[in-house]
Amino acid sequence: MKISAISIFPEYFQPLQLSLIGKAQEKSLVEFNVKDLRDFTHDTHRTVDDTPYGGGAGMVMKPEPWGEALDQTLTDGCDLIVLTPAGKRFNQRLAEKFSQSPHLVFACGRYEGIDARVTEYYRSQPRYRVHEISIGDYVLNGGEVAALAIIESVVRLIPGVIGNPESLVEESHAQDGVVEYPTYTKPAEWRGLKVPDVLSSGNHGAIATWRAEAAQLRSQHAERD
Ligand code: ADE
Repeated sequence: MKISAISIFPEYFQPLQLSLIGKAQEKSLVEFNVKDLRDFTHDTHRTVDDTPYGGGAGMVMKPEPWGEALDQTLTDGCDLIVLTPAGKRFNQRLAEKFSQSPHLVFACGRYEGIDARVTEYYRSQPRYRVHEISIGDYVLNGGEVAALAIIESVVRLIPGVIGNPESLVEESHAQDGVVEYPTYTKPAEWRGLKVPDVLSSGNHGAIATWRAEAAQLRSQHAERD
């Protein structure tokens, strides 16, 4: 899979060299490419924003640099993901869908967002799929952190990235609304707290039942909070 990101802060994407995601690149399972939006400006100040039509607080990202950057980055059949708190809420189902894409392109806006015509224009181009995505009901300073979260959740689903693919089947959100059961390791007692006896019983049926019940309880708590 190819992954591209466009941002005025390309340094945000340095953590992608670390850990499993870094290894996935070494194994050529994924190829990252990050572009600086300012490289697509033509004035001495490398301007990417301007005041909003209609007035109001803050600045809006100009369409021209975005148009040039995206024209150079998008490929036929790619998925363009525009990060915005006004987008569709990201979840594990979308992570699974995006993990099937040949090429994901992340447009990371800052300030009060990108001129709305940019999404409108690329939506009108049938060779691209355009998604406006939010990672939750809160406001970040820009789309970079949201893009990193999405990239990490997508890349770990690519076959060969995670050593043991079984861990993907059992984990939280693999089923809608169900989170994973609590897990324990040695020592058997820590600060007066004991590992539930059933887990050392060797009775696989009883362990499976305990885990299913514990996952159900935890899922109810996660929903309520
Ligand atoms: N940009 C600013 N806030 C965001 C959010 N919650 N999700 C995605 N992109 C954003």
